[in-house]
Order: sequence, then structure tokens, then C-alpha cells
Amino acid sequence: MAFSVVILAAGKGTRMKSSKPKVLHKIGGIPMVQRIINTVDALDADAIHLIYGHGGEQLQAELTGDNLNWCLQQEQLGTGHAVQQAVPFIQDNEDVLVLVGDAPLIQKDTLARLKAVKAECDVALLTVNLDDPTGMGRIIREGENITAIVEHKDATEAQKAITEINTGMMMMQGADLKRWLGSLSNNNAQGEYYLTDVIEMAASEGKQIRAAHPEEVSEVEGINNRLQLANLERALQFRQAKALMTDGVYLADPHRFDLRGEVTHGTDVEIDINVVIEGKVALGSNVTIGPNCILKDCTIADGSVIEANSIIEQASVGESCTVGPFGRLRPGAKMLAKAKVGNFVEMKKAVLGEGAKANHLTYLGDAEVGAGANIGAGTITCNYDGVNKSKTEIGENAFIGSNSALVAPVSVGKGATVGAGSIVTSNVEDNALAVARSKQRNIANWPRPTKKN
Ligand code: UD1
Ligand code: CA
Repeated sequence: MAFSVVILAAGKGTRMKSSKPKVLHKIGGIPMVQRIINTVDALDADAIHLIYGHGGEQLQAELTGDNLNWCLQQEQLGTGHAVQQAVPFIQDNEDVLVLVGDAPLIQKDTLARLKAVKAECDVALLTVNLDDPTGMGRIIREGENITAIVEHKDATEAQKAITEINTGMMMMQGADLKRWLGSLSNNNAQGEYYLTDVIEMAASEGKQIRAAHPEEVSEVEGINNRLQLANLERALQFRQAKALMTDGVYLADPHRFDLRGEVTHGTDVEIDINVVIEGKVALGSNVTIGPNCILKDCTIADGSVIEANSIIEQASVGESCTVGPFGRLRPGAKMLAKAKVGNFVEMKKAVLGEGAKANHLTYLGDAEVGAGANIGAGTITCNYDGVNKSKTEIGENAFIGSNSALVAPVSVGKGATVGAGSIVTSNVEDNALAVARSKQRNIANWPRPTKKN
């Protein structure tokens, strides 16, 4: 059956104490409401009506989704009033799933179960039992059938003792929802139009109202302040870590691992502590990542080892390479198979050919290094003259002596050698030796200066 989704996200989020709308705060590297949009996209919703109030321009600039329909709620008069903003777009014969924009960890499987319950009755509610239900709407039951939701502030002492609570997520038919929303009043403790009042209306029409439950409580926990955000971030990270481990990835400590995006992997991948993975990262098989590495939008092919404290961003590492410790690959860096980058080596828009090495203290920017070349310690490609960037080309099997500066545009031919400490400003032919430094003079028996009084 066709179904649409209403996401309630018009609340201000005052307790975040932020200039940014609450639902744009990131969890797992993604704005919290975007995570919800992505989850319902995966369920093939026909339309997603996003109820927003504050920071509309910021929201529209940052959020994306197929079938996203923006519904402005000018004034926040309650959750029922919020859903009313989507009424013009809701079809009678479709199912409508209502979600809250600040509970980002809701999972696809849980929503699928809620849908399955709805298929067997008239209204499906996602509920959960909490040890401390303070502040939440309580579920009133007559046996299996639910008859009402009572808000904490409107509840009697006996009702407050109920631990089964409304998560705010529910599903019902469009025609029913529209009819019930039409008769909401704000005659309650908070003077708000409560969405939850539709449950009592449904029950009085003799509708069947049933509950589904999430797999874990974190799925329905809302975020109102930064502490709750941080706690749910850890819950999400542990969930992701468990999924990777189930999938065969070795994590030295699932509590010290952060995935802020997506990662794909082969078999026998090992990840040490405090590794941060951001954006889209692809790891091959037998890849080892040392502690404290940051991998962002990059590819690391089979058998490569990334040693401790390396940072790789928008770069690709070929098969059987090694990077680091303390290696830095910036955007456009490309290492071909068996290449090596050692400590304090930085690459940007540069290719390091098959088996080529830059083992220590080097900058390779706008450079192309041929297969088997050896880049000595302290080599710098001087790619920037203050205005323009120029390219350095180093041929196969070239040997660049330590502490050389290659002033681009310049090329060093295949098999050529550059003497240590050279400043190379003109091209070096294949197999030639370039020595570009002042000649050494030795002064015999040179008297050192003495201290004057
Ligand atoms: C609501 C439920 C309560 C449930 C709880 C779960 C009602 C009346 N109560 O209470 O039963 O246990 O959620 O967290 O529905 N929002 C709008 N516009 C508004 C008001 C709210 O978009 O005018 C949005 C908020 O941004 C938020 C969501 O709706 O994402 C829930 O609002 P909130 O004020 O947190 O509702 P609660 O009082 O917590
Ligand atoms: Ca709430």
C-alpha cells in the first residue's frame, strides 16, 4: 500500500543552546533529521512531509531527500497542530507514518515491524517500557487493545505508574488521521493540540489500536540537549561497531571507534583503537589500520598497512602499500601498488608510482613520481611560486638525494640521480646526475674564534 511519512521537526531545541536548529546537529556525522530521512527513504516512502519551524533556510540548504515536501509550521502549537500542516498533502487511501525529528536512531527494521502491525489493525503505535517514564505520554490499555495516550502533565497518579510510553511514532490511514486531526482541541494542561488525542478518538470509533516495539530503547530516545546527543552518539557508534564485527572486521575496541559515514570492507580487516572513518571509505581485504588514524573519503586496497597517526583524505592507496606512522595523504594523493610513504611525509595531488618510496620528511605536491623511484629524506617539491601551482615529474627509478628542493615546473628523467642538498631548477635528463649546490671547501687548521673580554 502507498504510504507517506510526516516528520515532526518544528521544535526550537532551546536546550541545545545553539544558533543551529536542533535537528541539524550531527550524529554519526549526519544531521539527525537527515538520518531519519535516509532511514525512511530505504523503506520506499512515497512522500516525506517535513514539518519545520525554525531555521528553514539552514534546513533547506543542508537536507536532501527524494520526495521531500517542506511544510512550515509558523507557530508551535503542539504535535497535533504540527501534523495538521501536512494534511493538504495526505491521501485518504494511504498509510501515514508519523515520526519525531529528534529521535535519530530509529531503525528500518523497527519501522517495518510497525508497518506490519498496522497491516493487521487500524492504528499502530510504537511503544516501549521505561524504568523512568517521567515526562512521557502513558499508554492506556484494555487488554491487548490500546484506548488512549495520556500526557504526563494530564495524568492521574495511577496513570503515572504506567511504564509503557508513547514514543511519538505511529501509523494509521490518511482518511482516519485527517478526520481525527479535524476535531482536536487544546483543552489540556499544556494548552497544546496533542497528536496523542487521536488515539482516544480512534478507540471511541471502535478501531483496533496495537503496539509494536523497537529492538533497543536508543532507537526511540529523543535529543534535547548536548549530553543526550553525546550519549546517543555512543549508542550509534556501538551499534555500528557491532555490525562491522559481526561482518568479520576486527576492532581492537568497539568503544574506541567512530564511523561518521559509510565504510565497505573485504575480509580480515584490522582496525586499532581511536580510528575515525568519515564520508565514504572503501577498505580491501587484509588491510590494517593502526591507532589514531583518520580516514576520510578514501580507498585503501588489499594488503595495505596504515600505521599509527596517519591522516588520509580524498586519496587512494593501492595494493600492498604502507603509510606512516604520521603519514598525511591530502586530496588527490594516489599511491600505486607497493608504494611506501613514511613518517612526516605529505602528499597532495601527487602520484607515487608502483614500488616508489618516500620514507621520511617529504612534501610531494602536484607531482608525478615513476615506479621504483626513491625520494630521499627531506625532499620538497616546490610547487607554488606565490601565485601559480606547477608540476614536478620524476621518472622511473630516479633517485632524489636527501634535502633536495625540486623547483617546479621541472622534471627529473628516468634513472636520473639528484645529489643530496640540491636545488633543482632545470630539467635533468634520463640517467644523468644533477648536483646543484655550492662546492665544499675545506680550510686547513682553521682557528676558532675566542671569547673577547
Ligand atoms: C511527545 C508526546 C508524548 C511522547 C513524547 C515522546 C504529544 C502530545 N506528546 O511529547 O506522548 O511520550 O513526545 O518523546 O504528542 N513538534 C513540532 N511542533 C510542535 C510541537 C512539537 O514539530 O508544535 C515536534 C518537536 O520538534 C519534536 C516532536 O514534535 O520533534 C515532539 O515534541 P515534544 O515537544 O518533544 O513532545 P513531548 O512533549 O516530549
Ligand atoms: Ca520530547
